[in-house]
Amino acid sequence: MNLHADEGNGVDMRIVVTGAHGQLGRAVVARLQTRHDVIPLGHADIELTDSASVAQLAALRPAAIVHAAAMTNVDGCAQDPDQAYRVNALGTRWVAMAAKRSHARLVVISTNEVFDGQATHPYGEYDVANPINPYARSKYAGEQAARGVLDRLYIVRVAWLFGGPRNFVRTILRLATTQSHLRVVHDEIGSPTYADDVADALPHLLESDAYGTYHFVNEGACSRYELARAVLDAAGLAHVAMTPIVLAEYPRPSRVPPYTPLANYVGRAMGMHFRPWQDAVTAFVDVCRKEQA
Ligand SMILES: NC(=O)c1ccc[n+]([C@@H]2O[C@H](COP(=O)([O-])OP(=O)(O)OC[C@H]3O[C@@H](n4cnc5c(N)ncnc54)[C@H](OP(=O)(O)O)[C@@H]3O)[C@@H](O)[C@H]2O)c1
Repeated sequence: MNLHADEGNGVDMRIVVTGAHGQLGRAVVARLQTRHDVIPLGHADIELTDSASVAQLAALRPAAIVHAAAMTNVDGCAQDPDQAYRVNALGTRWVAMAAKRSHARLVVISTNEVFDGQATHPYGEYDVANPINPYARSKYAGEQAARGVLDRLYIVRVAWLFGGPRNFVRTILRLATTQSHLRVVHDEIGSPTYADDVADALPHLLESDAYGTYHFVNEGACSRYELARAVLDAAGLAHVAMTPIVLAEYPRPSRVPPYTPLANYVGRAMGMHFRPWQDAVTAFVDVCRKEQA
């Protein structure tokens, strides 16, 4: 990757990371720390629903902020949409205002769920968002709030993250140790994405002035069923039987957009490529197996 770097901002920036103990935040902190002065902030350090708490970010005088904190419990957001807006929309607005006050560039991490899932081809960065559940509406409102406050802004949409201790891949591995037969949804399609791969790409953005909207996902798309099958195969658990089920058999408080693969048109045009999701899953399953060895 070879982007134009702003003068004086190539390396060794002071970068604040919110949600630093979350799945993506941990990977981002680990990656950025190799080149920059990183200040990781967890929920105990900053409360997104409290504008005064978030305003203190500016006192840290960051050159950049990576905003990975969010209310990510999609069904919890459906049960309490006000709280989802307070955290994901207003909270992001407070972070953007703190970035403006400290003249910092800002990365807002957003989601594939900003799209309604009715497309027949992967969503590009310029496709029109139409969120259909409270989590997605609050995240899109967060994007828009940041756009309203800042010019020096990167919106980075990710999807179906794995990499930390709690995610779909880990769940399948855990269930496969206790059950000989798994039932997995086959009519929800998306772009599985390794948090480490997103973290690896972020410095290329942060060290450039290429502001805008990005889709950082591993290449390709699959159903939850196909993802589970790939996890089992990579883990040497191909003997575990699976039955495809439909979303309608698994009622949830939140409405699921059924088809939300993302296309990384912009990043790819700038030389930022992501490996195929199958390779990323294999790499992460290897990490999980080594942890257990
Ligand atoms: N996971 C996915 O599949 C996925 C898909 C698309 C987009 N995304 C986006 O990617 C980003 C990172 O997701 P993730 O999976 O890493 O999430 P995560 O593991 O749930 O981490 C989110 C972090 O935000 C913190 N947080 C929650 N509410 C907060 C508040 N009110 N004030 C301050 N901190 C708060 C959480 O702390 P506590 O746990 O202590 O509350 C947690 O450490 C989010 O913006 C999410 O919307 C995720």
